[in-house]
Amino acid sequence: MLELHKVHKHFGGLQAVDNVSFTVATGCIKGVIGPNGAGKSTLFNLIACNTPLSSGSIRLNGREIQGLKAYQTAALGIARTFQNIKLFSGMKVLECVMVGAHTRGRAGFLAGMLPLPKHRREEAAIRDKSMACLEFLNIADLAHSPTDALAFGQQRAVELARALAADPQLLLLDEPAAGLNIYETAELGRLITTIREQNITVLLVEHDMSLVMDICDEIVVLSSGRKLAEDSPTNIQRNPEVIAAYLGEDHEPAR
Ligand SMILES: Nc1ncnc2c1ncn2[C@@H]1O[C@H](COP(=O)(O)OP(=O)(O)O)[C@@H](O)[C@H]1O
Ligand SMILES: [Mg+2]
Repeated sequence: MLELHKVHKHFGGLQAVDNVSFTVATGCIKGVIGPNGAGKSTLFNLIACNTPLSSGSIRLNGREIQGLKAYQTAALGIARTFQNIKLFSGMKVLECVMVGAHTRGRAGFLAGMLPLPKHRREEAAIRDKSMACLEFLNIADLAHSPTDALAFGQQRAVELARALAADPQLLLLDEPAAGLNIYETAELGRLITTIREQNITVLLVEHDMSLVMDICDEIVVLSSGRKLAEDSPTNIQRNPEVIAAYLGEDHEPAR
């Protein structure tokens, strides 16, 4: 479904993503892991066309998406959540999720300003779909709460609902378990697995290794912008280079 070929992104002299190639097969959950600063979020920004490539190519179902705008990749079926949650302030939860659904709604912007019957039907369908996403994530009771009043875990769930409401074929999740407790993380793992069962392909950036190892079919490891390894979870856990990259960051050397 997704093919990255020799993808580069530099910020001035810094190679944030350096010659990264990999593919994501339809229907899989692929993990992207690596120490802080490895280039994971930048990679997501490139795939969602939130920022342009320096060089290389990214194809979705064979179509080059380089040069598209973020709203265009959203219309092609790429939805995402952000490492730093970005909800719309001053909105109710349901409205916020409906904005996500509108990214693939058919009536255009102008039609949205005219109270045409066709538009009203579409609006009702979008409301129902958005409500169904909230129910799927067990937060339907929050539909009429202001987004600003939500606890952290609830904000993450609303952001995921908004992404799902866009009917994505590819869902990019940037550290969805960050800040969640172990029960919420376990529930998130079950949800992501259920999302995949609905034919949505998932690319998951996550630091919680037990979650990643549990639910991913394949894992790409990035370090300093470069692809260090790409393998099954079992092989990744045994890979000496991967272990070294993580030991370098997270652990005091054994004395
Ligand atoms: N907009 C930006 N301008 C300059 N440098 C950036 C920008 N975004 C990210 N970087 C740098 O690129 C590198 C990779 O960052 P990032 O993709 O956020 O890593 P990760 O998500 O793996 O922690 C870091 O060194 C970061 O400081
Ligand atoms: Mg990041």
